[in-house]
Amino acid sequence: MNTSLPQQVKIVEVGPRDGLQNEKESIPADIKIELVNRLTAAGFANIEAASFVSPKWVPQMATSAEVMAGISRKPGVIYSVLTPNMKGFEAALAAGADEVVIFSSASEAFAQKNINCSIEESIERFRDVALAAKQNNIRLRGSISCAFGCPYQGEVAPASVADVVRRLRDLGCDEIDIADTIGVGTARQVQNVMQVVAQEFPLHSLSGHFHDTYGQALANIYASLEVGISIFHSSVAGLGGCPYAKGATGNVATEDVLFLMQGLGIHTGIDLNAVVDAGQFISTHLGRKAVSRACNAIAAKRAG
Ligand code: HMG
Ligand code: MG
Repeated sequence: MNTSLPQQVKIVEVGPRDGLQNEKESIPADIKIELVNRLTAAGFANIEAASFVSPKWVPQMATSAEVMAGISRKPGVIYSVLTPNMKGFEAALAAGADEVVIFSSASEAFAQKNINCSIEESIERFRDVALAAKQNNIRLRGSISCAFGCPYQGEVAPASVADVVRRLRDLGCDEIDIADTIGVGTARQVQNVMQVVAQEFPLHSLSGHFHDTYGQALANIYASLEVGISIFHSSVAGLGGCPYAKGATGNVATEDVLFLMQGLGIHTGIDLNAVVDAGQFISTHLGRKAVSRACNAIAAKRAG
């Protein structure tokens, strides 16, 4: 084991939100609830369970209030939801969310496509959400899309990512996600961006949110570990894609990340076998194989 890597990491399971938001067929709330419950039982400390966005923009998330009301919560587990504006925040508050996520972008073009406003306007919109979160003792997380490349504008300068990190920090974010929305980042680039943004925000509260479109996510996670990042987002069974990033595939699969961490001797507190079961459960419902090498390998081994 390389002793310079973090000895413990937090894995934020984003499958129920990022993973499912792009599914075309409406998934019944009880399936989403069972998925969250299985993930809770597997030992995650943080699950991104729902999203209070406009149902016209993301129809699959229209059941979010029902999902939040139906899940069995384990004390200490943080159930996060996306909140692009005050309307979303009010719904999140009513649903008893533990953490709200405000989300912008390092690329102007993507901000327009995803949240229908400029980066500057998004920050202004988040000001009230941030204040309300603090007043209600709800954790506040910020997410920055297109930190390593944009489907509309192409290259994104690390300075643009750092600029949004600064603005989210000034709003009082407890944690900030550096997101590779379209999975184009590569290892050295990831290390460079992480080191640049770590000058603006504590390293231990920065997370890596990697989509696996170009197959680089695990390498990017390892590269991030090398520069001290210790929070990663992943999606059970590799579910997902962003409705406003054409061709983008899911987040890196949780099972693959857990297998990597096990091999490195890095503690996650999560039961890989239980995550495989959850992955099989949702994949069966969706009628397709999990997009996770580890999930499929473990399931095949079990089947003998
Ligand atoms: P807009 O059309 O500019 O907003 O959308 P508006 O204020 O004019 O409202 C339009 C309608 O939406 C109104 O309804 C509002 O009431 C309603 P109408 O009067 O027409 O019937 N509305 C809402 N309904 C429910 N909840 C709300 C809400 N807000 C307005 N919170 C808006 C602006 C931000 C609302 C819209 O663009 C939106 O919802 N965007 C979200 C898009 C999204 O969810 N994308 C995926 C999540 S982000 C992601 O996946 C990236 C991430 O994973 C990191 C990465 O990988 O990059 C986080
Ligand atoms: Mg994402």
